[in-house]
Amino acid sequence: MPSAQDINNKRFSAEAAAWDANKKHVESTESALEAIKRCVLAFVNGTSKDLDVLEIGCGTGLLSFLLAPHVRSLVGVDTADGMINAFNMKVAALPDPQNANLAAVNVLVQEADDVHLQGAAAALATRRGETGHDAPYRFGLIVSHLTLHHIPSLSDLFATLFQCLKPGGRLALTDYEDFGPEAVPFHPKSKREGVERHGIKRNELETVIIGAGFSEVRVEQAFTLRKEVEAEDGKPARQMDFPFLICLGRKS
Ligand SMILES: C[S@@+](CC[C@H](N)C(=O)[O-])C[C@H]1O[C@@H](n2cnc3c(N)ncnc32)[C@H](O)[C@@H]1O
Repeated sequence: MPSAQDINNKRFSAEAAAWDANKKHVESTESALEAIKRCVLAFVNGTSKDLDVLEIGCGTGLLSFLLAPHVRSLVGVDTADGMINAFNMKVAALPDPQNANLAAVNVLVQEADDVHLQGAAAALATRRGETGHDAPYRFGLIVSHLTLHHIPSLSDLFATLFQCLKPGGRLALTDYEDFGPEAVPFHPKSKREGVERHGIKRNELETVIIGAGFSEVRVEQAFTLRKEVEAEDGKPARQMDFPFLICLGRKS
């Protein structure tokens, strides 16, 4: 019997090649970037170029490639090998791929010292001429878009993310809100297998993030995405507005 993770990896690997052609994927990512720029202090006070970023569930890199010009480095991780292959093809197509400030690895990160994660961070540090850096690498910002609803244990995830941050590092994670049964049609029926939860809940996320040790925790509405949902249960295909939340926190 395949696990939810296996089902997701297969689904996302199969979808990777066409992922960026979906206008709603692009639109929601652009809105996520605007929310991050609005809510994360380093983007507001002009110090974002000092940030080393970790992205959980980077997919093909829609958010990663938008963020990379604004930060020092970005390591993306994703459990679907097809997504990472698509990401790597986009890096290879850059004018100077050997000096790109972003990289992605196909791994399920369960601890901050994960060898694949550390290897990618070390390679980017070497590339920018940093020698003698004190490993293990830790990050100044962790982002993630549309991934939390796939993660089985949010408390395990946030415990790992806490480890992955430097003191003073921040979280800025976006996903659609579970605002009740009406949130279920966000995914068409054919894609619901492997979806762990139909959106994220404000109170639950606040409790989990505080429980992992973060301070300055806020979970608030970031933007709305209007998209067409399929006909089901006697309701016609229709346009629906889905609220998205941004989850913010700081490691003191
Ligand atoms: C809905 S897609 C979003 C991809 C990308 N963030 C975007 O917005 O285009 C969710 C992604 O999370 C990845 N994923 C699911 N569970 C994961 C986990 N535990 N760790 C890392 N990535 C995961 C999937 O493989 C998939 O690429």
